[in-house]
Amino acid sequence: MNRYEDALERAQVKFKGSIRPAADAGIIPYKSENGKWLESPYDGNSWWTGGFWPGIMWLLYARGGGEAFRQEARRVGKLLTDEFRVFTKLNHDVGFMYLLSCGADAKLTGDPQAAVDTLHAASLLMGRFNPKGYVRAWNHPDQAGYAIIDCMMNLSLLFRASRETGDPRFAHVARIHADTTLREFLRENGSVSHIIEFDPETGKRVREHPGQGYALGSSWSRGQAWGLYGFTLAYLNTKDEKYLAAARRIAEYFTAHIRPDGLTDSDFCQPAGEERIDNLAGAIAACGLMELASATGETAWQRAGERLVDGLLDHCCDWTADRCGLLTRCTASYHDDGAGRHTNITYGDYFLTEALMKLTGKDPMLWI
Ligand code: GLY
Repeated sequence: MNRYEDALERAQVKFKGSIRPAADAGIIPYKSENGKWLESPYDGNSWWTGGFWPGIMWLLYARGGGEAFRQEARRVGKLLTDEFRVFTKLNHDVGFMYLLSCGADAKLTGDPQAAVDTLHAASLLMGRFNPKGYVRAWNHPDQAGYAIIDCMMNLSLLFRASRETGDPRFAHVARIHADTTLREFLRENGSVSHIIEFDPETGKRVREHPGQGYALGSSWSRGQAWGLYGFTLAYLNTKDEKYLAAARRIAEYFTAHIRPDGLTDSDFCQPAGEERIDNLAGAIAACGLMELASATGETAWQRAGERLVDGLLDHCCDWTADRCGLLTRCTASYHDDGAGRHTNITYGDYFLTEALMKLTGKDPMLWI
């Protein structure tokens, strides 16, 4: 067994042991504190991260981990589809939420209701499209013109809906948003902005906002990771080389900033000497880099992805059997510690597991 197979096997054992605490509490795990699962501090089960725990369950089910993983994934899948009725708290992150829950269920088991639920989520995302050129990110009345880099990950839900229905509208919208992102977010040096505000009447760019990074104009590392993986997915969905070129540029920028220990700073422009890590960014980028490597045949990206995974395995995994949560030192936002700073957060666990699935040839690719 090589180190990645060994880590994945240990992760499977650990996550299997932490199903019970989540199911008994009736929650969707958001992060672990003192070894115990906590749910999201925001917006209940509508919070954008709800798909990651069932996503881990589906990955391990696909690996052959057994029925317990499917059961837990479906328990949470039901909580998430119940949020369709709440509706007003859902936003563009229905891609993250439903691709990894009902989307994964439909893909791995062929369950017909899960397929319908996935299409329902895609229709919600379509409903956020402003024909002036972008998919609206959030719901606050002052944010009608906001689009964010993270949305590149959500577009896969639209591409998938077009493939499944034969109706190209979904893919047209995804391409329009991706083209806007390419034009307005990708900077000269290969970094990307987090938030761009457009005039919702005209579609004209109004300004950039600082978002979850260090400052206006800085390079929030998780945003770079969303851009890198998101443009790679846009290429995989369309085979349009301009998206692959964008992914390469972001990958060059990202890999130039990986720390010597293989970990990732929370913002690539944070003050020198500031020890603020975001392992979420490292785990997401590792997955994006490995997909970029297989899309291009360029092995340097694979090696960079492995460097990131090695950094996480060497320094930041809590393997203690009776503590929930695996990946440590995750930071949700540079200036706001409310959602977690230097702690376990479930989407770090998800992307680390996805990276290990890729490294062991087992990834079912839940994003496409
Ligand atoms: N998609 C929101 C975040 O990365 O925090």
